[in-house]
Amino acid sequence: MFSKLSTRGIASRLASVAQRTQPKESAAVGTENSRSEAVFAREQKYGAHNYHPLPVALSRGEGVHVWDVEGKRYFDYLSAYSAVNQGHCHPKIIKALTEQSQKLALTSRAFYSDILGEYEEFITKFFGYDKVLPMNTGVEGCETACKLARKWGYVKKQIPENKAKIIFARNNFWGRTLAAISASNDPSSYAGFGPYMPGFELIDYNNVAALEQALQDPTVCAFMVEPIQGEAGVVVPDEGYLRKVRELCTKHNVLWIGDEVQTGLARTGRMLAVDYEEVRPDILILGKALSGGVYPVSAALANDEVMLCIKPGEHGSTYGGNPLGCRVAIAALEVLQEEKLAENAFKMGQLLRTELSKLPKDVVTVVRGKGLLNAIVINPKYDAWDVCLKLRDNGLLAKPTHGDIIRFAPPLVISEAQMLESIDIIKKTILSM
Ligand SMILES: Cc1ncc(COP(=O)(O)O)c(C=O)c1O
Repeated sequence: MFSKLSTRGIASRLASVAQRTQPKESAAVGTENSRSEAVFAREQKYGAHNYHPLPVALSRGEGVHVWDVEGKRYFDYLSAYSAVNQGHCHPKIIKALTEQSQKLALTSRAFYSDILGEYEEFITKFFGYDKVLPMNTGVEGCETACKLARKWGYVKKQIPENKAKIIFARNNFWGRTLAAISASNDPSSYAGFGPYMPGFELIDYNNVAALEQALQDPTVCAFMVEPIQGEAGVVVPDEGYLRKVRELCTKHNVLWIGDEVQTGLARTGRMLAVDYEEVRPDILILGKALSGGVYPVSAALANDEVMLCIKPGEHGSTYGGNPLGCRVAIAALEVLQEEKLAENAFKMGQLLRTELSKLPKDVVTVVRGKGLLNAIVINPKYDAWDVCLKLRDNGLLAKPTHGDIIRFAPPLVISEAQMLESIDIIKKTILSM
């Protein structure tokens, strides 16, 4: 494509693109927040309007903190939806990323690489499964699990062709692809995008009787569920639910797919949220913090009985299992272990919930969560969006979900002093409502 352009032509084009990539300094003259305003305006003008971000324009992150373009520092209480468990720009993960990127970034799976097998051995031993199927985003990991389950259903369970069903829990969230929204009961996810994937059915979350009933159907190949429903607003099921899920899926010869894309990797105070009940899904899906937030890396893990149902050419992705992602994922997992981040999340989560529970009940009606995956419910007479704007002004970033819920999920590297400082910001904000 470049062959017809002179070198000077390319250089001048690149220079003009580079000029356009900085918000105009001149816009900063006059108003205090005009650099941020310029960032908002440019996204609004040139980007699809598929998100509604809190008005804050970030340009730097380190550990539990992020800084906006005006240089103001904030506690990050969202952690990119739990992708940044290890903290922003963790030095070990960044080192792995930069070193590998200078060596070999992408081979595609047309060839072997010297790192994929090392990563596969590392992650399967880490979580105790026979095999891993590497993908990139969380939704691809979930889609992979659904395909694996259907294939297993036909090959091993002898479900008649095209009849396999997957059961999901109501209020699940696993992304935005057509398959993911077909499993959703949230109209803002699915409405206007039909027709939907057949063979997907919903039952209530945390309802053992409904699960037992659904699993009677011999065409069911899998039940996919989050151990804690993250996007639904950090909905924690009753103790014993996951053990019951394991028991019923085994009894009815149905695969249990554990979606730990958000709950996994030390976020809830254990390496996996299912560890609380000492059970293991047949297919485990990981994403987000599997790269510590520096690169999209996801994975579906399963034993041979399931994983070997998929044959060459039946599933994959150009970037899945690429050398950069593999090296980053090994480093990201090592950081979780070396820095004992599950233990820290457990301890800091208890401190956070204890302190949040002391807030006035007429503003914060509910505090819930496990480890550092937490949410508060704001009395509907207040606006959770306004609470988040005030939190931002006071130096802490969080985002409302479903109108009245605010998730509190800081990076797991947070120290006790930082936790106390951030709790003070939350208290001050809530008391000012
Ligand atoms: C439980 C769960 N599964 C899957 C996904 C999809 O992950 P991604 O956005 O990386 O595709 C998410 C995203 O929030 C999630 O919370």
